[in-house]
Amino acid sequence: MKMKGLMSLFFVIAIPAFANDCSVSIESTDAMKYDKNEIVVKKSCKEFTVNLSHSGKLPKNVMGHNVVITKESDARAVASDAAVAGPDNHYVKPEDTRVIAFTTLIGGGEKTSVTFNVDKLKAGEAYSFFCSFPGHISLMKGTLSVGS
Ligand code: CO
Repeated sequence: MKMKGLMSLFFVIAIPAFANDCSVSIESTDAMKYDKNEIVVKKSCKEFTVNLSHSGKLPKNVMGHNVVITKESDARAVASDAAVAGPDNHYVKPEDTRVIAFTTLIGGGEKTSVTFNVDKLKAGEAYSFFCSFPGHISLMKGTLSVGS
């Protein structure tokens, strides 16, 4: 009886710990920065979650941040089209097939997240994550790849 209780406690703890391996938390600031420049998605993950928080104070129309994931080679063009799409679309062109995943646009003090299927990513391909708010890709950009 006592042993059984201990085992269920183990599973309660073990499951969230496993899930954490398939997510990343990125903090962003009023200084137009992410606190990470590299994300490695484990190929054993079925789904991957990106959690974005904005620790600044500026509103999203001034210092908006999101996370957009594309192939590295598509990043600049997607960011250009994003500027045209505007804030109502979270600075992502609607139905843009080059976009693997994106979060909503947030301002200071806010959080957002996105979960996507890892089978959308190929091992060996170079991906980027970036903020598509106009002008932010120059400072808010990192690499994303599939690893073990
Ligand atoms: Co931004």
